[in-house]
This record gives sequence, C-alpha cells and structure tokens, in this order.
Amino acid sequence: MKIMVVGGGGREHAIIKSLKKNKDITEIYALPGNGGITKDATCVNIGAKDIPAITDFAIKNSIDFAVVAPDDPLVLGAVDALEEKGIPCFGPEKKAAIIEGSKVFSKNLMKKYNIPTAQYEVFSKAEDAIKYLETAEIPIVVKADGLALGKGVIIANTRDEAISAVKEIMENKMFGDSGNNIVIEEFLTGPEVSVLCFTDGKCVKPMVSSMDHKRALDNDEGLNTGGMGTIAPNPYYTEDIARVCMDTIFIPTINAMNSENRTFKGCLYFGLMLTPKGPKVIEYNCRFGDPETQVVLPLLESDLLTIMKACRNGTLEDTEVKFANKNAACVVMASEGYPKSYKSGFQIKVDPDFAGELYIAGAKLEDDKILTAGGRVLGVVATGETLKGAIDNAYNEVKKVSFDNAFYRKDIGKRALSKEENTIYGL
Ligand code: AMP
Ligand code: GLY
Repeated sequence: MKIMVVGGGGREHAIIKSLKKNKDITEIYALPGNGGITKDATCVNIGAKDIPAITDFAIKNSIDFAVVAPDDPLVLGAVDALEEKGIPCFGPEKKAAIIEGSKVFSKNLMKKYNIPTAQYEVFSKAEDAIKYLETAEIPIVVKADGLALGKGVIIANTRDEAISAVKEIMENKMFGDSGNNIVIEEFLTGPEVSVLCFTDGKCVKPMVSSMDHKRALDNDEGLNTGGMGTIAPNPYYTEDIARVCMDTIFIPTINAMNSENRTFKGCLYFGLMLTPKGPKVIEYNCRFGDPETQVVLPLLESDLLTIMKACRNGTLEDTEVKFANKNAACVVMASEGYPKSYKSGFQIKVDPDFAGELYIAGAKLEDDKILTAGGRVLGVVATGETLKGAIDNAYNEVKKVSFDNAFYRKDIGKRALSKEENTIYGL
C-alpha cells in the first residue's frame, strides 16, 4: 500500500512512524516532509497548501490512502479535492474543517447547541469592539476569526492591551484577512487539557488526554509558541471529567456538526479548560495537535491505518482504539531566539545510545548531515510506567541530542505532577 502524508513537522513525523508499524504499507510519501524525516518517508518537495500539485502527485503515484495533517490544507479543501479524484483520505472536508477555520463559526455553533464555552461577542468593526471593551470585565481574550499560525489569541490584562489588540488585528491586519472579524471572550481559568478524538461522524473515540506547554520559557513565561512540550495522559483529566466531556461536549459537537450538514470525519481536537464551573471548550482544531500527537501516538497499541480508514468509511464503532496504560513526555528542542528570530544550519547530533523517539520538525538534509532549519527543531519523546518516569526518561534522552544554539524548557510536566490545581475546580 502506498500512503501519502501531507505536512512536514514533528506531528507528521509521529504519524508516519506510527503508520509504519502496519506491514501492508510499502511506501510512505511526505509532502513536503523535512530533512529529518527522510529515514522514515520519501519526502517530496510539494508544499502542504499546494492542493493542485498534491492531487496531481497522488494520482500519478497511485496513492492508496492520504492523511492530510495540517490545518491550512484541510481548511482550503485538500480532502475534497483528493476524494473527488478517488483518493480516500483521513481528515475532514472543507465544510467541516471550518470548525477550526473560523472561530466565529465555532463559537456560534457552541452557543446554538449549548456546548459549554466562554461567553463571547463577535465584532466586524473595530470601533464597535473598542466601545464594548470600555465596560467589559478585564482580563479579557481577543481572538482573530481565522487561522493565524496559532498566534491569533491575545489575553489582555488591561483595557489598553485589549484595545491595542483589536487595533492590531482589525486595523493593522497583523493576521491579514483572518482578522476581518474578531471574537472577544470571557477569560477562563483552570487546568488545560487537550483531547484528540477519532470520529467517523457517528461515533467518537477519544485518544489518551494530554497537556501542551505553549509558552517559550519555564514557569509558563515568555511568548506563546507552537508548543514546547507535552505529557500524556493529563492527570487533571480524571475518568469522571472524561465522562462529563463525552456527554456535554464531544457527542453534542459531533451531533451539532451533523445537524449543520457538516459531518466531521477525522481527528477532532478539543482544547478544554477545566474551570470551577466544569469543563469548557477553549478551541476546536480539525486535526491532530502538535506536539500532542508526539505523546499520544507512541501510546497507541491499535493499528493507526486501520483506525484512519474506519474514520473515513464510517466503521469506527467496530474498530479497536486501544492505548497502553503508560505515560509519555515530549520535550521540544528549539533554536535560541524562537519564536522570534533565530539562526539555523547547525548539525543535529544524536548519541548512538539514544533510546527515546525523535520526531523532527525543522531540519534539512545536506551532504548526509541533518541541519537545523526551523524554530522548533525536534521533539524528544520517552515513555514510562509513571508520569514522573516518562518525564525523567525524556530529559535523560534530551542530553543525548545536541545542536548549536539549542534551548528547551526544563519544566515540561512539572505542573501536571503537582496536584495544586486540583483544588480549583469542583467536579
Ligand atoms: P488557542 O490559540 O485558541 O489555542 O489559544 C491559546 C491559548 O490561549 C490557550 O491554550 C489558552 O491558554 C489561552 N486561552 C484561549 N482562550 C482563553 C480564554 N477564554 N480564557 C483563558 N485563556 C484562554
Ligand atoms: N498544540 C496545539 C495545536 O496543535 O494547535
């Protein structure tokens, strides 16, 4: 079987490594992949947003199944284009990917179907938003409607910050057309949980829960990033809370999308906050999370390709989705300076006794050497019988990977290990 994975980061590397366990797969192509993935897939220099070229490649190479991983091609309709040409895909169609592509859509969906989320207002004019902010409760959250590389959310601690966020997004267009409309919403507090769910549009099978670490520096300081590390499972996500989420969030969301004639098939990512008033949706993503996938898929015991096909074919109910009763931790090694400017082109060296999993996100291959070529360079992943064991193992493996100008957070999983926050929500 020939498989094509659209995308080229650490998430795609984790998907590829997991798919490779299926012995029926003879070839995996990554479009575009990256220099660090070449050992595990044939990387093809086609951008993840170039839908005509992706479709053309799939037809010419008789691809049997395609996985579209990133948000952009999903929101642009890559799955529709491939399926139209007879290539079966894992991932939602364009009309369902809007659940991530438009925050105005997703907030209105939640309101209409009573799915718990932060209170909000939508604005299409900066002056109306600014007027609203004059009396709104602070802190408050300002969000661009469309995709913004994960940077479209501004938490304003003062009224002035909120007003300048509105001006930056709506008048200065810092996120381009993604900021034509904005959502202003209530600031929520509580531990955050990411739950990635497989769904065929009828049944929902959640994967093991996880926790992302979005800020660049230890103690959740510094700028927001694409994610500096993850742990799974998330200890705050107890069985009781999981049941509440299934009943009040996951199933209602799948049903809501069906009612809107936007059946969602693929991986639906629920970004949740466990507030004192119960779990609420912070965001939906129409895809696997990055770097959540890097800790979730190593714990998957069932065959990923079989599950992905079941999501596409509507047979998920009868398909096993089983996770190991273990823990995983991912420490992202980034280039010093990220998420602002940084230098690249340094050789990535890995000790021969490296015993973790390496998922490479930003690298290029030059004369048989793998060189850094991005802000987030790679994720080091290890598993363990306990969360502490997994975290210790991951940090131990990090010592065996090096490149000039590397930096990483030293406290991935620390918050998860401390149970302090358990007292602030009453479920
Ligand atoms: P997003 O880009 O939607 O994942 O949001 C980035 C981060 O902003 C989330 O992971 C939360 O930590 C935070 N955030 C988003 N919405 C809210 C909210 N309503 N209240 C508090 N924090 C929020
Ligand atoms: N880790 C958050 C995301 O994938 O959007």
